[in-house]
Amino acid sequence: MGASIPAPISQLMVIIFLILLPTIIKSHTVSVTDFGATGDGKRYDTSAIQSAIDACHNYSTTKQCYVYFPPGTYLTATVFLKSNVVLNIPKGSTILGGTKLEDYPKEFDRWYVILAENASDVGITGGGVVDGQGLEFVVKFNERKNVMVSWNQTGACSGDECRPRLVGFHDSTNVKVWNVTFTQPAYWCLHIVRCENTLINDVSIYGDFNTPNNDGIDIEDSNNTVITRCHIDTGDDAICPKTYTSPLYNLTATDCWIRTKSSAIKLGSASCFEFKNLVFDNITIVDSHRGLGFQIRDGGNVSDVTFSNINISTRYYDQSWWGRAEPIYVTTCPRDSNTAEGSISNLNFINITANSENGIFLSGSKGGPLRNLRFINVNLTYRRWTNYSGGLVDYRPGCQGLVNHSIAGIIMEHIDGLEVENVNMTWFDGRNMQWNNPLDFRPSTVNNISLLNFHSVTKHSDRKIGGESLSLSAIL
Ligand SMILES: *[C@@H]1O[C@H](CO)[C@@H](O)[C@H](O)[C@H]1NC(C)=O
Ligand SMILES: *[C@@H]1O[C@H](CO)[C@@H](O)[C@H](O)[C@H]1NC(C)=O
Ligand SMILES: *[C@@H]1O[C@H](CO)[C@@H](O)[C@H](O)[C@H]1NC(C)=O
Ligand SMILES: *[C@@H]1O[C@H](CO)[C@@H](O)[C@H](O)[C@H]1NC(C)=O
Ligand SMILES: *[C@@H]1O[C@H](CO)[C@@H](O)[C@H](O)[C@H]1NC(C)=O
Ligand SMILES: *[C@@H]1O[C@H](CO)[C@@H](O)[C@H](O)[C@H]1NC(C)=O
Ligand SMILES: *[C@@H]1O[C@H](CO)[C@@H](O)[C@H](O)[C@H]1NC(C)=O
Ligand SMILES: *[C@@H]1O[C@H](CO)[C@@H](O)[C@H](O)[C@H]1NC(C)=O
Ligand SMILES: *[C@@H]1O[C@H](CO)[C@@H](O)[C@H](O)[C@H]1NC(C)=O
Ligand SMILES: *[C@@H]1O[C@H](CO)[C@@H](O)[C@H](O)[C@H]1NC(C)=O
Ligand SMILES: *[C@@H]1O[C@H](CO)[C@@H](O)[C@H](O)[C@H]1NC(C)=O
Ligand SMILES: *[C@@H]1O[C@H](CO)[C@@H](O)[C@H](O)[C@H]1NC(C)=O
Repeated sequence: MGASIPAPISQLMVIIFLILLPTIIKSHTVSVTDFGATGDGKRYDTSAIQSAIDACHNYSTTKQCYVYFPPGTYLTATVFLKSNVVLNIPKGSTILGGTKLEDYPKEFDRWYVILAENASDVGITGGGVVDGQGLEFVVKFNERKNVMVSWNQTGACSGDECRPRLVGFHDSTNVKVWNVTFTQPAYWCLHIVRCENTLINDVSIYGDFNTPNNDGIDIEDSNNTVITRCHIDTGDDAICPKTYTSPLYNLTATDCWIRTKSSAIKLGSASCFEFKNLVFDNITIVDSHRGLGFQIRDGGNVSDVTFSNINISTRYYDQSWWGRAEPIYVTTCPRDSNTAEGSISNLNFINITANSENGIFLSGSKGGPLRNLRFINVNLTYRRWTNYSGGLVDYRPGCQGLVNHSIAGIIMEHIDGLEVENVNMTWFDGRNMQWNNPLDFRPSTVNNISLLNFHSVTKHSDRKIGGESLSLSAIL
């Protein structure tokens, strides 16, 4: 006869098991208050937070450990995130970056409120906020562009670009940033450098609209990065892949909403190495200075980039910001006379709708042409609604700078291979109208253009009916 466990006891065991289950499968958690953090937003909690991270990191070399911030405001100097540690900042909790130079390490390239270096399996989550107090770095508020402080004592950085970034991951693998809000970075916001396998999802970023250099997400020299469901509302570039010391491969950004006084998506301008295999899908870009941008300036080559299902609205802002209301801007030119020329090839723009105050600018250079560009199902509507003057093409940074040029639907220079299929241009006549040129190119620098089902229609604002219409359904 086998001994059977009486029913009430087996039920109790099940209950005990169910109670224990979460702690068995759940990762370890430590709370910063157990290490003396006050969370009062006035006293520095730096050493308490750092001790909690260090203890969490020590807890296990294999399992994830969470550092929990009970509701409160935690003022801190730079804290260093370690392997296997995730910061859990819940709703009601804020990590507040210090605003003094001594709050940050000596080396300018380590100026972050939160920094992970050489770490693996690290992250930030919880639904709470990391706040860089960026407005404290404004010397003079100006609706055109704020004047910012400069911490350039050591000469490691110059001018007003000497400000701390908010969150950085350097040389790390398996980075995960999700369900968290980043506000008021003093300089760049989320910076991913030489990382491998990064997932950023459900992240909101709010920077000041008039503050320069407060980029949203800068992805530098990193492979296999996924960004999804982001909301970025900031002054400078929103999603900005760059290459300084090695190439960047496999970046995907989907399901995002963006507003910026600069470029919503920008490759460059740091572009010393290759960019390859990038996908941008289902993105809404509103009231931005530039929509989809390439500022290739340092000899790196770009290939295989697809933009699909994107709605764009671009308008003019003050010309001290790079951008001239272009919904799409693809440029490569040597930054200066010492720089090599990089090429850009195999770009797809599919299912794009744009409402903009200016046209598309596509400009390669002699030794760095644009090759194999495809525009498929693209709906472009041009109208003016601000009072800024137009008539400039913008090669900045470096190159030819700002140059007077008549306005066109698409300006093309140094291109080999452009396919346009199912593309509509709708022109709204009215004040500030200077456009009368759907396509602007010189055959000496532009080769192999094909137009299929391309329509250009002018609508006069003062009349309800459509005006002159040009329809091409031909291969040129
Ligand atoms: C973590 O472990 C290291 C090495 O064993 C030790 O020196 C350090 O004191 C530990 N830190 C904490 C916070 O436990
Ligand atoms: C990161 O690793 C590199 C290369 O191993 C090393 O030179 C550097 O000192 C490390 N940095 C930190 C902060 O541990
Ligand atoms: C995000 O954080 C909030 C607040 O802490 C939490 O209620 C929610 O479940 C989290 N959402 C996700 C998708 O993790
Ligand atoms: C710091 O930047 C300011 C403004 O650009 C400049 O006037 C000053 O010379 C710089 N100082 C140093 C030490 O770089
Ligand atoms: C990314 O991949 C390229 C090509 O394999 C490699 O050269 C580079 O070192 C990788 N970068 C990182 C951060 O792993
Ligand atoms: C990029 O992704 C492809 C396909 O998933 C993969 O084969 C390749 O190894 C990745 N490149 C790098 C540098 O990781
Ligand atoms: C597109 O992204 C939005 C979030 O910005 C999301 O709500 C929507 O479901 C996505 N659409 C598709 C088809 O994935
Ligand atoms: C773009 O606008 C169309 C029409 O308003 C809408 O159906 C579509 O969901 C929008 N897509 C994005 C990515 O915003
Ligand atoms: C870009 O491509 C050109 C032509 O293939 C090549 O000579 C050059 O080395 C490439 N640049 C980089 C930074 O890899
Ligand atoms: C473009 O839009 C059409 C119609 O909505 C859809 O069937 C197609 O899959 C889209 N193409 C891409 C690459 O998303
Ligand atoms: C272009 O306009 C035609 C006629 O109004 C319309 O049938 C077509 O869907 C439009 N194409 C795009 C990509 O918007
Ligand atoms: C293209 O834009 C025109 C003008 O704004 C609009 O009437 C039309 O519905 C749009 N077509 C698509 C497919 O978005």
